Amino acid sequence: METVVSGIRSTGNLHLGNYFGAIKNFVKMQYEHKCYFFIADYHSLTTHPAPEDLHNHVKQVLVEYLAAGLDPEAATLYIQSDVPQVTELYLLLNMNAYKGELERCTSFKEKVRKQPDNINAGLLTYPVLMAADIIIHKATKVPVGKDQEQHLEMARTFANRFNRMYKKDFFPQPYAFNFSEELIKIPGLDGSTKMGKSENEGNAIFLADDPKVIRKKVMRALTDSGPTRKNQQRPQEIKNLFLLMKAVSEPETYSFFDQAYNDCSIRYGDMKKQIAEDIIKFNAPIRERILEISSDDSYLKKVADMGKEKAIDSASKTIKEVRQIIGFKRF
Ligand code: TRP
Repeated sequence: METVVSGIRSTGNLHLGNYFGAIKNFVKMQYEHKCYFFIADYHSLTTHPAPEDLHNHVKQVLVEYLAAGLDPEAATLYIQSDVPQVTELYLLLNMNAYKGELERCTSFKEKVRKQPDNINAGLLTYPVLMAADIIIHKATKVPVGKDQEQHLEMARTFANRFNRMYKKDFFPQPYAFNFSEELIKIPGLDGSTKMGKSENEGNAIFLADDPKVIRKKVMRALTDSGPTRKNQQRPQEIKNLFLLMKAVSEPETYSFFDQAYNDCSIRYGDMKKQIAEDIIKFNAPIRERILEISSDDSYLKKVADMGKEKAIDSASKTIKEVRQIIGFKRF
């Protein structure tokens, strides 16, 4: 059994790509490992959200993850800003995080390029906060995508540096969690290979989308003028439709349209209608729970309080030891 930590970005609605990517695996993992999942609201402050938005974003993400199957009894599901021990460890780690290595971080360099008017110290030290998030629970596994690999490597660097500095084998090395099941990659509806990757409206289907919106988005998905030769190669946008269908439709439905493409009898309109209905069927129970949970503030409070307590339990144990190791002492 591993100790797993994952931070969830606190903005953006969940889409089908998120579901078939990370979330489905989180749901499975929470029963097999000791999991800490948290909503990274401190991290979101680097972009200065309005106070009235901050809480709404956290709530929406919490609601959608619960609706998608995160179990607050099995996992420790908490809000980052509820656990002050994380910020203490962040401060301590900052003393041994060097300007040069932070400036070399790819995600930082990208921010410098994209938003030169808001290069704050929080952005520069983003990997330090992320390291604190992870090692505060002495995690060994972090389920993140390729884009977070460098941050994870920095977490190992900071953990190692602490161990070496104090000559203690204290923090374990956190590594990427490799899912045993193959990830299903959901493409975008605009011909892009990954849902949510492009900013195009209509690229993604959100778990909270109502049936009307789903039908509209799927019917507008990019297609070509249809196959003209038997068994011909499929262009990306057509491959995408089939990938989507594979994820949400029955295998027989999939083979029917697969066959129809190969013998050139396919009607994209029919295929899209089918995909839309199957997505609606798939989304329905999740969407229902989203509506239900978002109007149940007492349940949300219970979940947040429980997560906070469990997370502080673990974090305060680490911090107590860290303070001792560093040399803080009571008079
Ligand atoms: N940086 C991560 C992202 O952008 C979010 C995150 C913050 C995180 N702290 C973390 C992920 C700790 C894993 C572990 O998606």
